[in-house]
Amino acid sequence: MTGVAQRRVEDELPLAPRSAGVSRFVKLMVAFLAIIILLSATLAGVAVVFIGDRVVAEAQTRVVSDLNAADEMYRAYSDRLYDLIRLEAGRNYLQDDLLAGGASAAAPELTQTMNAEQLDFLTVTDAAGIVLFRAGNPGVAGDSQAGQSVVATALAKATPGVATAVFTADMLGRESPRLPQAARLELVPTRGARPRTATVETNGLVLLAAAPVVDDSGKVIGALYGGRLLTRRFEIVDSIRDTVFGGSQYEGRAIGTSTIFLDDVRIATNVLNQDGTRAIGTRVSEDVYNRVVVGGERWVGPAYVVNAWYIAAYDPLRDADGRVVGMLYVGTLEQPYVDLRVRTSLLFLGITLTAVLAAVAVSYIFSRRLSTPLRALVEASRRVASGDLDATVPVTSKDEIGQLASSFNTMAASLKARDDQLKEFARRKVMESERLAVVGQLAADVAHELNNPLQGIVTYSHLMLERMPADDTQRSAAEKIANEATRCATIIRGLLDFSRPKKPQKKLTDMSTTIDECLSLVEDRVIFHNIEVVRDYRKDLPATVMDPAQMQQVYMNLIINAAEAMGGVGRLTVTTRHDVERGVVQASFRDTGHGISEENMGRIFDPFFTTKEIRHGTGLGLAISFGIVKEHGGTITVESEEGVGTTFTIELPVNAPQEAGQ
Ligand SMILES: Nc1ncnc2c1ncn2[C@@H]1O[C@H](COP(=O)(O)OP(=O)(O)OP(=O)(O)O)[C@@H](O)[C@H]1O
Ligand SMILES: [Mg+2]
Repeated sequence: MTGVAQRRVEDELPLAPRSAGVSRFVKLMVAFLAIIILLSATLAGVAVVFIGDRVVAEAQTRVVSDLNAADEMYRAYSDRLYDLIRLEAGRNYLQDDLLAGGASAAAPELTQTMNAEQLDFLTVTDAAGIVLFRAGNPGVAGDSQAGQSVVATALAKATPGVATAVFTADMLGRESPRLPQAARLELVPTRGARPRTATVETNGLVLLAAAPVVDDSGKVIGALYGGRLLTRRFEIVDSIRDTVFGGSQYEGRAIGTSTIFLDDVRIATNVLNQDGTRAIGTRVSEDVYNRVVVGGERWVGPAYVVNAWYIAAYDPLRDADGRVVGMLYVGTLEQPYVDLRVRTSLLFLGITLTAVLAAVAVSYIFSRRLSTPLRALVEASRRVASGDLDATVPVTSKDEIGQLASSFNTMAASLKARDDQLKEFARRKVMESERLAVVGQLAADVAHELNNPLQGIVTYSHLMLERMPADDTQRSAAEKIANEATRCATIIRGLLDFSRPKKPQKKLTDMSTTIDECLSLVEDRVIFHNIEVVRDYRKDLPATVMDPAQMQQVYMNLIINAAEAMGGVGRLTVTTRHDVERGVVQASFRDTGHGISEENMGRIFDPFFTTKEIRHGTGLGLAISFGIVKEHGGTITVESEEGVGTTFTIELPVNAPQEAGQ
C-alpha cells in the first residue's frame, strides 16, 4: 500500500531531471554575462572609434596651427629681406650715383652688401627699370626689369615690396652666372605625382624684394632689387621644423617636417629619403597638387610623403600677381598617433576584458552562492518525494533563499507529523478490523450453532401455543417465548446471510418489475396506509443481469427503511432510469422522512448500526444490501438532508456478464 502511494507521489511531482534546474540557472547567468560582454564590447568599440577619431582630429588641428606658424616664419623671413632692401635703397651712395646717371660708384658697396647678407643677387635700375648694375653679374646690364611686378610697383608707386617669384634659368643666369646651376633639379619619379614629361626643373623659386631710390624731393630716380634663391635653401624649412616641432624625434625620425615647393617639386625640404638625404626633386601627389596649386586652397589630411605617412598641411605660395607658384608644407609623422591610437585601444580593450572577467568571476561566485542552497533544496525535495520525511536543508541566510529553506523544513516537519498520525490511525484501524473479523467469525459460528436449536424452540413454542387452550393462564408466557424465539431466529438468519452470503443466481431481469413486486408485497401493511407511493419507471429500461431474489432483499430493505423513517406518513418516490452514456440502470428511493444526521452518514452501512429501538432493527439491512449490490458490480449511494428526506440510489451495470450456466 505504502509502496504504491510512493510511486504515485513521484509520478505526480514535477521534479525536473537532476541537473535541469541548475542548468536553467546557469543559462540565466550565461545570458546575463552575454549582455554584459556585448555591452562592454560595444562600449569599447565605440570608445576606440571615438578616441581614434579624436586623436586624428587633434593631430589635424595641431598641424593646422603648425602650418600657420610656418606661414608666419616664411613671412618673417620675407620681411627681413624686405627691410634689408628698403634700408639699402635709402642709402646716400645709391642716390648720388643714380643722380649722377650711373651706378659705378655704388658697385663695391652693393657687392659687399650682397655677400654680407648672403643675397643671391642685388641689382639697381634707373627710373625706367633699365638695369644699371648687377652685383651678382657685373657684366650684364641694360635690360629692362620693369616687367617684374615688385620692381614696377617700387618704381611706379615709390613703394617697397617683397614677393615669391618664379625665375626661369635665363632670368637666373642674368642675375648671377652660378644661379641656373644652383636652381637646376633632377626630378625624382614619385608614386602618385601628376604625370610630367620633363625630367629636370630649371626654374628657380626666388624671394624677391624691391625698393625705390628717391631723390631729396621724393622723386623716384631708380630701384634696388635683390633676392634669394629658395631652391636648396634649407635654412627656412629647418628653422620652421626646429621652431615648430622642437626637433622631437620618433623612432629615430624627426616627427615634424617642412617643405617649400616650386609648383609640385620639393626644392627645399627636411623630409628625408630612405638613404637619409633630403628628398629634393621628389614631387607632391597629384591630388594635393590639384587642390593646392591648381585650386589655390589649403589642404589638411593624411598624406604619404616620400616614404612615410604624415598628417600634412599645405598652403599655396603666391607671387606678386597672386598666381600660385608653389606650396609651403608642414607635416607630422602619423606613426606616433597610430601608435597612440593602438595603445589607447589596447588599454580600453584591457579594461573591458578585466571588467568582463570580473563580471564572470562575480557571477560565478554569485551563482554558486545561489545554486548551492537551491541544489540542496532540490535534493531534499527528492528525498521527501521518495518518502524520507526527515530530509531538511540548512538555513544559511536570511534572504529569500533562507526563507524558502526554512519554509521547506517547516513543510517537511508538518508532513512528517501528518504521516505519523496517518500511520498511527492506519495501525489502529488494522487492529480494529482484525478484531472485528475475529468477532465476526465468532458471531457467525455462534449463529450457526444456535440456528438449529432456535428453529426447534420456534417450532415447538408455536405447536405448544396451538395446542394450548385459549384461556390457559400460561398462554401469555408461551406467546412471549414464541415471539422472542422468532425474533432471535430472524437475527440469526440475518447474521448468517451477512457472514456467509449466498452465491447469487443471476439472470436477465427487468429492474422496474422486481421493484414493483416488492412494493406490492408491502403496500398492504399498516405502515404504508398513509404513505403515497409514486412509481416513476422508465419504460424502455434494458433488462439487467442480476439475482432477482437478492436484489429484492435490497429493495425491500430500502422501502421498509423509508417507511420507518417517515413514521408511516409521507411520500415514497421510486424512480428507475437508464444512463446510456455510462451504461448503467439506476433505481432511486426518495422518502420524505427524518433524514440522516451527518454524524451517522458514515456509519449507516456498518453492520449492526441502527438508530432503531431494540427489537425494531438489527442494523444489518444496509450492510447486507451493500454486499449484494457490490457483488453485482454496482454501487449504492445515499443523499440525505435532516428533516427533509433521504434518497438511496442503486446503479447496476447493463452489460454485466451472466453467471456461468445461466
Ligand atoms: N430512509 C432512511 N431514512 C433515514 N434513516 C435511514 C434510512 N434508511 C436507513 N436509515 C438509517 O440507517 C440505519 C441502518 O439501516 P439498516 O437498514 O442497516 O438497519 P435497520 O433498518 O436499523 O435494521 P434492519 O434493517 O436490520 O431492520 C437505520 O437504523 C437508520 O438510522
Ligand atoms: Mg433496515
